[in-house]
Amino acid sequence: MAEPFAIPRSVEWNDTHITILNQQKLPLVTEYLQLKDIKDVWEAIATLKVRGAPAIGITAAYGLALAAQRYETESLETFKEHVRKDRDYLASSRPTAVNLFWALDRLVSSIAHAFSVNEAKTTLIHEAIRIQIEDEDICRRIGEHALSLFQNGDRILTICNAGSIATARYGTALAPFYLAKEKGIHLHVYASETRPVLQGARLTTWELMQAGIDVTLITDNMAAQTIKAKNITAVIVGADRIAANGDTANKIGTFGLALLAKAFGIPFYVAAPLSTIDLATKTGEDIPIEERNPEEVTHIGGTRIAPEGVNVYNPAFDVTPHHLITAIITEKGIIRGNYETELPALFAKGEHHE
Ligand code: MRU
Repeated sequence: MAEPFAIPRSVEWNDTHITILNQQKLPLVTEYLQLKDIKDVWEAIATLKVRGAPAIGITAAYGLALAAQRYETESLETFKEHVRKDRDYLASSRPTAVNLFWALDRLVSSIAHAFSVNEAKTTLIHEAIRIQIEDEDICRRIGEHALSLFQNGDRILTICNAGSIATARYGTALAPFYLAKEKGIHLHVYASETRPVLQGARLTTWELMQAGIDVTLITDNMAAQTIKAKNITAVIVGADRIAANGDTANKIGTFGLALLAKAFGIPFYVAAPLSTIDLATKTGEDIPIEERNPEEVTHIGGTRIAPEGVNVYNPAFDVTPHHLITAIITEKGIIRGNYETELPALFAKGEHHE
């Protein structure tokens, strides 16, 4: 049977380079780029050519593995030193999504007990590939759990792009919509455009439309009216970092949607893999919030829309306090309520246990 949804992959390992789908140019141009060295990888992440927490982690892992192949030394210690420096360099590409650091550190740990430089080089590649393969499975599980919260005919609002191209496949917040499509369950997605970079308008609509999933685009300031007029039944979003108490950093605008959900009495769900949960970060206050180039706000599509010299504040993320989150949906099941105890418990839970 033909795949019901054949969304292009955002990242692929090709031995001598990494191929990425250039998310900066979508939906007008579908362009694939070859990242040939670690600087290309850093730049692709920093400029949002590849974006979305899991996809950033996967790309960085491949970047670290790619860079490591070029070291000629026979000394394992010297080799590990190079890898650690490359890890720090790639870790400086973006600050908020913890999946970046999680994936890089997983690669560094994978060679802790290597016997030779050659073995370590191969291990790095294998570990990066494993991260991508695992992520597809993880996203599908998140989708299955999330779908159990929805009913045929539901109208669900999302922001940014937590979809297939932000992960290995399926996405996190968008995964239930793909699975619903497979099962013949009808869900209608409302996609908030997500100023200033427009991931909702450019990417979420693009990938859902290709899959034949009903999606309606709104601008961010239409959210309250849409919830009211279209009887939105739930809000679901992805995450860049979930602190130990459940406070969640996600794309700017998410916090506002959580407040609206509370005001309208509808559930607000966060869908994310365990690799996005950072128990070392105690609360949302401790999550570094990336501030990006003011041009993202003063310009649209390269055209200036604000006076030259205007003051701009451009945080790329906000933090939704845990008390506004109805449930966190992970590959290991759904948790609600006392995140401080439930989040650590998730890590101890068996793979197939809900
Ligand atoms: O700046 P971006 O586009 O990388 O931000 C992405 C998000 O905020 C996503 O919701 C999050 O990374 C989850 S992607 C599955």
